[in-house]
Amino acid sequence: MSKQPFYISTPIYYVNGEPHIGTAYTTIAADTIARFARMDGRNVMFLTGLDEHGEKVAQAAEEHGMTPQEWCDSQVVQFTDLWKELNISNNDFIRTTQERHMVGVAQFMQKLYDNGYLYKGTYDGFYCTPCETQYTQGELVDGKCPSCGRDVHTVHEENWFFKLSEFGDKLLAFYDEHPNFIRPQIRENEVRAFIESGMHDLSVSRTAFDWGVPLPFDPEHVTYVWVDALINYITALGYGSDDMSKFETWWPANFHFVGKDIIRFHCVIWPAMLMAAGMECPEHVFAHGFLMAADGSKMSKSKGNALYPHELIERYGVDAYRYYFLSDVTFGSDGNIGHDRITQVYNADLANTYGNLFSRVSNMTIKYFDGKVPELPAECTDMPNPLKEIADGLYDTFSACMDNVDYGGACSAVMELLHRANLYVEESAPWNLAKNEDTQGELAFVLYNALETCRIAALLLSAFMPATSAELWSRLSLGDPCAVENARELSAWGGLPAGNTVTKGDALFPRLAK
Ligand code: MSP
Repeated sequence: MSKQPFYISTPIYYVNGEPHIGTAYTTIAADTIARFARMDGRNVMFLTGLDEHGEKVAQAAEEHGMTPQEWCDSQVVQFTDLWKELNISNNDFIRTTQERHMVGVAQFMQKLYDNGYLYKGTYDGFYCTPCETQYTQGELVDGKCPSCGRDVHTVHEENWFFKLSEFGDKLLAFYDEHPNFIRPQIRENEVRAFIESGMHDLSVSRTAFDWGVPLPFDPEHVTYVWVDALINYITALGYGSDDMSKFETWWPANFHFVGKDIIRFHCVIWPAMLMAAGMECPEHVFAHGFLMAADGSKMSKSKGNALYPHELIERYGVDAYRYYFLSDVTFGSDGNIGHDRITQVYNADLANTYGNLFSRVSNMTIKYFDGKVPELPAECTDMPNPLKEIADGLYDTFSACMDNVDYGGACSAVMELLHRANLYVEESAPWNLAKNEDTQGELAFVLYNALETCRIAALLLSAFMPATSAELWSRLSLGDPCAVENARELSAWGGLPAGNTVTKGDALFPRLAK
């Protein structure tokens, strides 16, 4: 049977800025879903990349005395390096200055033109360069950008327009037919209210600068950067090239992950563009919330309350970083982030529960069974096994949460098993069982169960914490949990072979001081 295709994307980030905890958040979140889909046996395309055109990039290049292309090239590595460090498993990395993308954008714009959805007119309005967004007078807040609060400038230009206003009813009908297209629900309400307040046509070209994709039917104009950027989701699949096989496999996408600030582009403009081109819309756009400082205020360099990916990696390690943001912040809501809470979750879940369990049971296996996974004695087959009971339903619970992008639910399902296992070790007191000849069978049973719990937990958690899971599996003399494609079967109780060597190592999660 061929594998079910699964396509997930992050926004393509502005090449100008440094990657920050916001962009890392979306990328880690998408990576975790992509990793889970792979271990669940799906054929995954996970795409991220960079948005490299537009006024903002052209300006920054000039300020740095470089050509725009040189400027972009100089910025890329800070993204690719951080994604590597965070163990991001993207299958492709698109840059909008790549030929493959530019060819596809030109073809898409030609299609809109041929289908009668573009016309030439005069744009009179406002523009926020940092957000690369057009605004009408009425949308400004105190004369400033309603999104970032910065100054806007006026634009008076001959532009090509996309007949976005024709799509209001079609979009509303599409949302009715696809009630899960926009997630979470609160964002759908926002998008509907925006459409119902009246839609304007969208200027889709600029002539004031030339850093972009020229319109094939009017090359004095370059494509508006957001329109150019949105098309990345299909040019990465070969749209516009001779080889459409990836497009045929993966389009429409299952998930576009975005921040809540860019839902209009993804839930209004992008589906309208696709409809106009006669193409299918993605299945889901999932908008996550914003990460805020611990006191709920906006993080900013100047206030000194910003957190940086490198600082977090250094302090907590990559896996704890990944785990914390997904398990403790509800995906879709804003989250207040501070060291106190990160440390609390780290110590409770990772150091005291997960790390502690593995450290205890691996040490006892080394001590009592010469470092070999004990054989299950026949007399134990009928003994109550509370860990197996929880583990038996775990894959179903975990995968239902992951399919629903409920990271918190998925993590707490695994934590419940790990908590129970720590309690089970306490209750069973293997150190007492070891003292008595008659209870050697029970000792083997208890340690096997606790080791098997660690194996299964590490398998499931490999989507969140790939490096730790790989380390734990290697200490059980098992293969790479991040390469499995049949996690459902492998999560069945009893998969840990007796006789496997168990080795000791450093604490997986050394306890942190408050
Ligand atoms: N280039 C556009 C996206 C084009 S996609 C076709 C863009 N780039 S961006 O570099 O600004 O990326 C922003 C992403 O980071 C958005 O999804 C945004 O929501 C997210 N975040 C920026 N700051 C954030 C937080 N403080 N918290 C969480 N995410 C935030 O927009």
